[in-house]
Amino acid sequence: MNTAKVDVLLGLQWGDEGKGKVVDVLTPRYDVVARFQGGPNAGHTLEFEGQKYVLRSIPSGIFQGDKVNIVGNGVVLAPDLFMAEAKDLEKSGHVLQSRLHISKKAHLIMPTHRLLDRAMEAAKGKDKVGTTGKGIGPTYTDKVSRNGLRVGDILDRFDEKYAAHKERHLKMLASMGWTDLDGLEEAEKVWMEGVDYLRGFHLVDSEHELNRILRSGKSVLCEGAQGTMLDVDFGSYPFVTSSNTVCAGACTGLGIGPNRIGNVYGIMKAYCTRVGAGPFPTELFDETGRLIRDLGHEYGAVTGRERRCGWVDLVQLRYSIMVNGVTELIMMKSDVLDGFDTIKACVAYRLPDGTETRDFPYEIDNVTPIYKELPGWKTDMTRFTSEAQFPQAFKDYVDFLEAELETRIGIISIGPDRDQTIVRQSM
Ligand code: GDP
Ligand code: IMO
Ligand code: MG
Repeated sequence: MNTAKVDVLLGLQWGDEGKGKVVDVLTPRYDVVARFQGGPNAGHTLEFEGQKYVLRSIPSGIFQGDKVNIVGNGVVLAPDLFMAEAKDLEKSGHVLQSRLHISKKAHLIMPTHRLLDRAMEAAKGKDKVGTTGKGIGPTYTDKVSRNGLRVGDILDRFDEKYAAHKERHLKMLASMGWTDLDGLEEAEKVWMEGVDYLRGFHLVDSEHELNRILRSGKSVLCEGAQGTMLDVDFGSYPFVTSSNTVCAGACTGLGIGPNRIGNVYGIMKAYCTRVGAGPFPTELFDETGRLIRDLGHEYGAVTGRERRCGWVDLVQLRYSIMVNGVTELIMMKSDVLDGFDTIKACVAYRLPDGTETRDFPYEIDNVTPIYKELPGWKTDMTRFTSEAQFPQAFKDYVDFLEAELETRIGIISIGPDRDQTIVRQSM
C-alpha cells in the first residue's frame, strides 16, 4: 500500500527556477504547504490577477484559499524581515495569523548574523561567495555548532538569551577585525518588534503537526528554496548556500520520514541562470546571454543583482535528478526562447585531459560544454492554453529533453502568470 502523502517540489539548477509560481499553481491539489529549508535568501515570485508578490520566508501556498502553510524547523527566520513580508500581505488583504504555523525549532537570524555574513564575505576577498547578505551562513553555522537561538526561545527569558548570543557574536566580529557596527541598534529595535509580532503566530511542533495531518489522510506539498547546485553537500561547493536544498532536506527540515515522500517535482528553466559567484559551465558572456537576461527579466528578486545566464546543462540536470530522485520535471520560462532561431543544450562536458563525460564531475570550473543545437520554434506561445497548440519544433525539443534526462516533463510554464501554465496529459 502506498501511504505516501508528501510531494516535494524543488529547484534543480542554481535557484530562481520559478518554484514560487508552481507551488501556487499546485497548491489546490494539497491540504498543506510547507517550507523546509533556507530563509530570506529566497525570493519566490508569484503573479496572478494582475498582481505580483515576492515571498521570502512565507510558503507560496498562502494565496490559495485557506490552506495551512507551515514554516518548518529547517528554515532560518529573520523576525524583522518576516514581519515586513507578512504585513505587506496583510495590507493586500491576506490574513495569515490563523493559517501560517511556524516551527519552534526553526532558527532565528539575528542582526549580528547579518554583520557576520558581511565580515565573512569581506574576509574571503576575491573568493567571496556573493551571498545575499541575509545572515544565512552564520545562522546555520550557529545551528550546527550548537550555538543557535530558536523560535521557541522567544517564549521564555528571551532578552537574557538574546544578550548572550549577541555578546558572543560581537566577540567574533572583533576577532575578525570587523568594527563597523553602524545601524546595529536601529536594526535590533525593529528586530525585537518582529519578535513580538512573531509571538502572535501559531508557534508549533511542526513535526507533530505534519505527521498528525498525514495520519488523518491529508496531503502535503513541500516547497524547496534555492536549488540543487546550491546544496551544501551536492552543489558547487564552496559557492553554495548553507542548507540541504535536496529532497532529503524535506525529511530533516520537517520531521517527515523518507517513506512518506511520493512525487518529487524537479523544476528547471529551459535555459540556466546563476546569481552570485562560482562556476557555471554553460554561462554565456555574449549577446545571447544578454538577450536571455533581458527577455527573462533575470534580475534577483531579493538583491536586484543581474543573474548570469546560459544554456540549459543536461549533465548538471541529470545529476540533480539523480540526487533528488526526481519523478517528474517541470520546465519553466520556455517562452523566453520563443523567438530564437536555434537553441543549444549541453549534453556532455570535455574534461581538461580531453576526455568527454556525461557524468557530473567533482570539479566543474574547468570543463568545456559540448552542445547539441536544436531548431527554435519561433512561435509566441505565451497565450497557449493546451499542449495541442505546441508547434512541432517545440514538441521535438521537449521530446529531446525527456530522452536525455530520462524523466517526463509534466508541466510547462509559458509565462509568469498563474494561468500561463500547461499541465500535460498523462501518457
Ligand atoms: P523562484 O525563486 O524559484 O521562485 O523563482 P524567482 O521568483 O526568483 O524567479 C523566477 C522569475 O521568473 C520570476 O520573476 C517569475 O515571475 C518568472 N517566471 C516564472 N515562470 C515563468 C515563465 O514560465 N515565463 C516567464 N517569462 N517568467 C516566468
Ligand atoms: P530562491 O529560493 C538564487 C545564492 C546566493 C549566493 C549563494 C549563497 O529564490 O531560488 P546565501 O545568502 O544563501 O548564503 O548565498 O546562494 N542564493 C540564491 N540564488 N536563488 C536563491 O533562492 C538563492 N539563495 C541563495 O546568490 O551565490
Ligand atoms: Mg528566487
